[in-house]
Amino acid sequence: MSIQAKPLHSVGVRMKRKEDPRFIQGKGNYVDDLSFPGMLYLSLVRSTYPHAEIKSIDISEAMKVPGVKAVITGKDLEAAGLGWLPTFHGFDKQMVLAIGKVLFQYQEVAAVFAETRAAAVDGAEAVQVDYAPLPVVADPFTSKTDKVLLRPDRESKTNHIFHWEVGDKDGTARAMASSPKRIKQRLWFQRCHPAPLEPCGCVAYFDTMGRLQFHVTSQAPHVYRTALSLVTGIPEDKIHVISPDLGGGFGNKVPVYPGYVCAIVGALKIGRPVKWIETRTENLTSTGFARDYHMDVEIGATADGKVTALHVATTADHGAFDAAADPTKYPAGIFGIVTGSYAFPVAHAEVDAYFTNKAPGGIAYRCSFRVTEASYAIERGMDILADELGMDAVELRKKNFIPKDQFPYPSALGFTYDSGDYHKTLDVALETIGYSALLKEQAEKRARGELMGIGFSTFTEAVGAGPSKHFDILGIKMFDSAEIRIHPTGAGIVRTGAKSQGQGHETTWAQVVAEELGLDPQTIMVEEGDTDTAPYGLGTYASRSTPVAGAAIVMAARRIREKARKIAAHLLEVGEADVEWTDYKFQVKGVPSKTVTMKEVAFAAYTNMAQIEPGLEATYYYDPPNMTYPNGAYVSVVDVDRETGETKVRRFVAIDDCGVVINPMIVEGQVHGGLTEGFAMAFIQEIQYDAEGNNLNTNFTDYLVPTSLETPHWETGNTVTPSPHHPMGAKGVGESPNVGSPAAFVNAVIDALSPLGVRHIDMPLSRDKVWRAIRDAEAKKAKQA
Ligand code: CDP
Repeated sequence: MSIQAKPLHSVGVRMKRKEDPRFIQGKGNYVDDLSFPGMLYLSLVRSTYPHAEIKSIDISEAMKVPGVKAVITGKDLEAAGLGWLPTFHGFDKQMVLAIGKVLFQYQEVAAVFAETRAAAVDGAEAVQVDYAPLPVVADPFTSKTDKVLLRPDRESKTNHIFHWEVGDKDGTARAMASSPKRIKQRLWFQRCHPAPLEPCGCVAYFDTMGRLQFHVTSQAPHVYRTALSLVTGIPEDKIHVISPDLGGGFGNKVPVYPGYVCAIVGALKIGRPVKWIETRTENLTSTGFARDYHMDVEIGATADGKVTALHVATTADHGAFDAAADPTKYPAGIFGIVTGSYAFPVAHAEVDAYFTNKAPGGIAYRCSFRVTEASYAIERGMDILADELGMDAVELRKKNFIPKDQFPYPSALGFTYDSGDYHKTLDVALETIGYSALLKEQAEKRARGELMGIGFSTFTEAVGAGPSKHFDILGIKMFDSAEIRIHPTGAGIVRTGAKSQGQGHETTWAQVVAEELGLDPQTIMVEEGDTDTAPYGLGTYASRSTPVAGAAIVMAARRIREKARKIAAHLLEVGEADVEWTDYKFQVKGVPSKTVTMKEVAFAAYTNMAQIEPGLEATYYYDPPNMTYPNGAYVSVVDVDRETGETKVRRFVAIDDCGVVINPMIVEGQVHGGLTEGFAMAFIQEIQYDAEGNNLNTNFTDYLVPTSLETPHWETGNTVTPSPHHPMGAKGVGESPNVGSPAAFVNAVIDALSPLGVRHIDMPLSRDKVWRAIRDAEAKKAKQA
């Protein structure tokens, strides 16, 4: 079921660049395309050491480089009261430029402003920093010992950042102890990077009115405006944040980075516009990483496979500053969704986070704040349990799914799942993949010694942060908003507090307005990302746009419809109670021949409105009553080459349930993109550090992004279980494939290797790792024989 508006696959309604007298040229609508008279370029000096005292910074040679105008250091910023930035959830602070010491390789140490980009880079290279290396803490387990204290600036003299827990600790321990079957496995979700196509960047200048004009790659422009005002003291009305086309975000463009602050300081100090555009290496080494969770998963079950208890204890590597972009009350994000699609009677989850000498982050990489880690933990755990029980992974899942008649379902860890039909979604996936035939084929191949695997992931996630009683960022509640204006001709504009990074809001929001108001979607303009025009909202990440901003659009449109009804009654010369909205127009009840269209009403709203207030506009701020709980059943079929360890993903079926679908083609595109990212994490991507804290993945030759050659063919489909509380019945979908797919890939590879006795391999399942696991397992078998 998709809503009945005309499909809009070819509509390209785009946000128009605001008229700006100082704008002189532009190729596209990206920050890097902007150019202003007198613009300077900013390049950042970065640390070569992961942990070192800064003995001195000498800028004299840099100042001699032709074109260099100024250099600023951490001490300069500290003197201006801008040495440190608060991190998003407000529990830590982060150096803008290093003060006293550096805490990770590639940390920002000084800022160089010059007439050209090349001069800025040359200037940065000419800055001489004298470092005295300090011992490096490269993993959270070493950090735990507190032998090297990384953050003496903090009151608590420990590397331990926080302990967070949820659920019934004692009840879980009791249930686990009395469970006839138990599994326990450490799973590491490696450090990854969202690696959007365009890196981060900004242009900052103060206009002739002294107002900060800040063009920036931001997924949350209004939050930036408020945060900048609070940090810099510039009144909020004197800050204009414009977030143009982003070239992808995936959570990477939520935090406020040092480069942004330096650009603003430079623009203020020098009195000229300043542009800062990250290089790919800067993006991969210093901006928000994701994951890096070491999870000890323990599941208890009865002998016939009914789950009895779940315990997950996580050690989290947060890097040098606790800059995870999580809502205030959720330092470990929504990790509590770790019970997944299963009816656990009792559960307990805990996370301990530590500082290390690595880049800060912990951002929601296409993920509703740690939901991907949670989903991986439970979906791998269920497969390990199936193996322990000698049970089919599908049978185990079906036995433990939350039954569809138990929704809304209160989970053991405090969530109220809104709706779902997990059996149906899995059945569609099994039917599509042809499970029985695959099992037969697998048995035949196994008899021949070939390694074929079938892997499942039947995940549930929580998206749409979030209800104001639980969710805020820097104290600002996580509602979202929409403003719709219908013009006299029936064309219109919709603005929201969300911000598309390529998800197609320009298409789907126009469709939603068209559906609610019976207008032509081709004539509905969509504009996002400009704090002067958009109503206040918390932005786009964690698949919150459809559940929150999308709902706000529906509600604003319905407000317009109510106003329009009054005008329709006037036009139809009947009382308002006699008018009904049917088949996309107003009609006199019981008289199908007496109708007016919304287009006619729109014209009348400006030309013939009698005693009714003129105009046809509405704004709505939507505070969601609950999250939405999209889910899916993913099946992966792989062949593993016994000689080389190479895995071929032969088939991948993804059946998603995101409630009512607004645009099937956009949803399919979202799923394709997310699956490709899941594939990359499962097989090729990891931000690695050596024991000395050196980052080993500083560019795209070391941190691989799959091309169309490596990417498998995706087979997608949908089931539809509407969300009961969303005004359109829709749930978010953007992150589901990234959340759900890694476990399906890993489960398939481990299933292929299970005849050899391999129980687990941590991602990424690179050829050499899989080959080593095969070789070791064969050697072990040979020894036992
Ligand atoms: O917050 P974000 O836009 O990343 O994620 P989303 O709400 O899951 O939406 C991603 C894209 O899919 C948007 O263009 C949505 O309007 C569209 N979508 C849809 O067509 N139907 C759904 N049920 C959910 C999302």
